[in-house]
Amino acid sequence: MISAKNEAGGSSVMSTENTGRAQTAGERTSAGTTPENVAVLGLGDMGRALASALLAAGHRVTVWNRTAHKADALVAEGARRAASPAAAIAASEVVIVCILDYADIAPLLADDGAGAALEGRVVVNVTNGSPAEARVLAERVAGLGAHYLDGGVMAVPDIIGQPQAFVLYSGAEAAFAAHRGVLDAMARSVYLGADPGAAPLHDLALLTGMYGMFGGFLHAAALVRSAGGNVDAFTRDLLVPWLRAMADSQLLAMAAQVAAGDYGATGSHLAMQVAHDGIGDVSRAQGVSTELFGPLWELMKRRVADGHGHESLGSVVELLHAGAPPA
Ligand SMILES: NC(=O)c1ccc[n+]([C@@H]2O[C@H](COP(=O)([O-])OP(=O)(O)OC[C@H]3O[C@@H](n4cnc5c(N)ncnc54)[C@H](OP(=O)(O)O)[C@@H]3O)[C@@H](O)[C@H]2O)c1
Repeated sequence: MISAKNEAGGSSVMSTENTGRAQTAGERTSAGTTPENVAVLGLGDMGRALASALLAAGHRVTVWNRTAHKADALVAEGARRAASPAAAIAASEVVIVCILDYADIAPLLADDGAGAALEGRVVVNVTNGSPAEARVLAERVAGLGAHYLDGGVMAVPDIIGQPQAFVLYSGAEAAFAAHRGVLDAMARSVYLGADPGAAPLHDLALLTGMYGMFGGFLHAAALVRSAGGNVDAFTRDLLVPWLRAMADSQLLAMAAQVAAGDYGATGSHLAMQVAHDGIGDVSRAQGVSTELFGPLWELMKRRVADGHGHESLGSVVELLHAGAPPA
């Protein structure tokens, strides 16, 4: 456990007494860290994957789920079943919460003495929510004498525990440092700072980037299919390599421009890009809806009409959010 008074000061780790289970001297996880007592509250698709990864790494996992039978497979893998959230929390140093809705977390932690059991624990909440919800829950958890990390899982359940999975964390830095062994057993851990709202905000930013890519794919697939093309081969042989090349060469350059607020175009200015509505015209001729591409197209045209035709596509961000002038 982490001492509350050491929260600001770093990674001071206190003894693990009162956690309900003794540690065996010399025991090690598969990553070479000290096994910890971890509770997982919520055993939906994601909670089960997280608990399973923790067990596989060698941590001692106590599980609870509202619908008890969902714990059966994990118990067969070596987890302990708790009869209530309070019992799971009492047996653990780290409490991972993974349920569907943020609104249901507070009642869960208030139930049956769970609040009292939280004192000295670290709550790692990976339920998706908003930055404001994360800040409110962090205060509530702190009020119960526990430490709070908000987490954004950037993975689907199938890839939990594999190298491409990562989880964004923000909140109590000392708790993050002290329990890296637990966090890294689930996925690569990325710490974004003390504001509990940072992880959910970056989670949503990554998701909107992903949906932008998926939206582009859907329009492209419809266009190719409308001409009788092979969407599978098109995507594998052309679209994926193209998107990789654009991500590498364009996204980082545009990000630097957005960060600097300086949108000097180097080759592809906005006026050139909106000179002809090729995507719209051909899509309509093929019977393909432009509902996905249309909003971006309108923003690009508006930016040109506003006198920014010489700038790059990155300058469209100014129509989405009035940024602070560069320092
Ligand atoms: N699956 C993904 O790909 C993914 C990826 C990233 C993040 N996430 C996030 O992870 C969280 C869980 O997702 P999931 O995929 O595991 O969802 P899920 O399979 O639908 O499971 C939902 C879980 O929430 C529990 N639950 C719902 N309402 C509850 C309540 N009022 N009190 C207590 N428990 C309650 C359910 O319990 P019962 O079994 O009793 O219904 C179940 O354990 C969500 O916030 C989701 O956004 C999921």
